[in-house]
Amino acid sequence: MSALPGSIEGALTTGLDDSPVLPAPADLPPLTEQTRLEAREIIARYPVPRSALLPMLHLVQSYQGYVSPEGVALCAEELGLTKAEVGAVATFYTMYKRRPTGRHIVSVCTNTLCSVLGGQRIMDALSADLGVHHDETAADGSITLEHAECLAACDYAPVVTVDYEFYDQQDVESARELVAALRRGEKPHPTRGAPLTDFRGVSRQLAGFNQYEDPRAAVDAPGNYEPTLIGLRLAEERGESAPAMTTGPEDQPADAGEPRDTVRPSGDTGETPGKEAADARVAAADTPAEKAGAAGSHPDAPEPSGRSLADSDDGTDTPAGSEPGTSGQGPQREA
Ligand code: FES
Repeated sequence: MSALPGSIEGALTTGLDDSPVLPAPADLPPLTEQTRLEAREIIARYPVPRSALLPMLHLVQSYQGYVSPEGVALCAEELGLTKAEVGAVATFYTMYKRRPTGRHIVSVCTNTLCSVLGGQRIMDALSADLGVHHDETAADGSITLEHAECLAACDYAPVVTVDYEFYDQQDVESARELVAALRRGEKPHPTRGAPLTDFRGVSRQLAGFNQYEDPRAAVDAPGNYEPTLIGLRLAEERGESAPAMTTGPEDQPADAGEPRDTVRPSGDTGETPGKEAADARVAAADTPAEKAGAAGSHPDAPEPSGRSLADSDDGTDTPAGSEPGTSGQGPQREA
């Protein structure tokens, strides 16, 4: 996704003097003194000015819909950075756009879980409806379409976001209706979260300013948490619980939550309580997978192949050897 230094896309963003720069769109609103004042307000929030760069880039997008060469120059001037340094940051993150975006940005998760549940079909349908591919904007300027990597909402798959607000558990038809409504100028309420504005509005929010004319509008809608909680409910019904978070059976506190079928150590086998409990977990496992998992966490389980803890004792990357030269990295001994 990131443009390589010196590429045309990189040049578009950085606006370096010796790089080809496409003219800004004729209808691009200029950055004003107000933009500069707000940039300085952002800078004042941080102990080190350059830390303000990320929200400043969102601020530029809130005015111009993308990180324009003019925006790169403003950030560089205010922060005492070169345009190349600002461009390097702007081209690293996918949330910074290098071409003017549409009124809304529609992101379709096509990562594994969403994809197997229909995410790619949604992407293909929207692409056909809008006549665009990834990272392109419909001719009417309404929508920029992009495919997205995992949006961290796999329990609601397939997921679509509009201006980074979630529309959960979509299918081809619901996603097409959503996009059609957006093109009509409507703003369907996200499945959860705050009301939808537009790409420039959410960019303003990401810059640290309120995007709503009425701040009371920024109220999260009650969400449907069922997909997130279903695993917990099933576990409760089946009487299952997760093992305590410990570094090993020996560290497990006496009152820690016990996994299903765990048998309290009897203390009469001659083993440590940790080993006895681990034996019991292996014996109680129902399935081969559970048995393998229990065996793997047993204190007597062999070290996984690869580097052992002993290797780290000498503070170097040289594997331990009993004599000089045996590691293959020390001086070769005379035969
Ligand atoms: S795979 Fe789509 S949200 Fe995780």
